[in-house]
Amino acid sequence: MSEPLVKVETRGRVGLLTLNRPKVLNALSNEVIDEVANAMKAFDADDNIGAIVITGSEKAFAAGADIAAMKDWSYTDVYKQDYLGHQWEYLRRVRKPIIAAVSGFALGGGCELAMQCDFIIAGENAKFGQPEIKLGIIPGFGGTQRLPRAVGKAKAMDMILTARMMDAAEAERAGLVSRVVPSDRVLDEALEAATVIAAMSLPSVMMAKEAINRAYEAPLNEGLLFERRNFHALFSTHDQKEGMNAFIEKRQPQFKHE
Ligand code: CAA
Repeated sequence: MSEPLVKVETRGRVGLLTLNRPKVLNALSNEVIDEVANAMKAFDADDNIGAIVITGSEKAFAAGADIAAMKDWSYTDVYKQDYLGHQWEYLRRVRKPIIAAVSGFALGGGCELAMQCDFIIAGENAKFGQPEIKLGIIPGFGGTQRLPRAVGKAKAMDMILTARMMDAAEAERAGLVSRVVPSDRVLDEALEAATVIAAMSLPSVMMAKEAINRAYEAPLNEGLLFERRNFHALFSTHDQKEGMNAFIEKRQPQFKHE
């Protein structure tokens, strides 16, 4: 049986996706993205999953969209299939937290896939970049929008216009990644973080994600109101009562995720 393009596993309440095209540094073909999106949909719908981790290999998280697949496409080919829309955009609608565990190269669509996740844990060997300009194109899955939000305009311009890569230390200083760990610890660190998240009350985790994302889409007043209304709404959950009672009674909460 041939190897899957994306390995899908569960570790307790964590869903784990491993990109699995090592010979081409996990180049993101449409087939790979379809498999990622389908697995994410299944995890999002599964009550037994509280957080998702996506990772690649030690050498590459993903070296970008599949250049061999797209090199001969015409304008109408990419327009008609809405290339980089559709399934890629689906990833934005996943409501449970997604952590990118990045070792090695995260370039082009690989960097964009990592930035689409909720946060990035990087190995010391990680390298981030948007080298599309060298191919005569520009980033197509959010690089020009998410990179400036993550690292500011100056660094985003520098990286996208010169195609230079950012190493893990610079990426952490710039705010692109949340943690840098020894390269052989990346997946374990991400799984541990995801396990911590998955043990929290799922409604509060999902609302926190939704509210943080609002910060990028709504004016401050709207974002603050959205946060406050959701804060109020959580008082209707079992888990709010359990969490607060457990604190007062000096014991661990038993969340039911409802
Ligand atoms: N698409 C298709 N194949 C790729 C690939 C990609 N994005 N990246 C690497 N590969 C393939 C190589 O062609 C090579 O295949 P062969 O062994 O058959 O020759 C194999 O993976 C190994 O790569 P290298 O021999 O190049 O490995 P290296 O260690 O010398 O270099 C690298 C590593 C610097 C990452 C280099 O592979 C590279 O520059 N890759 C392309 C990066 C890139 O331009 N990404 C942007 C793609 S466009 C995009 O992503 C658009 C978007 O916004 C969504």
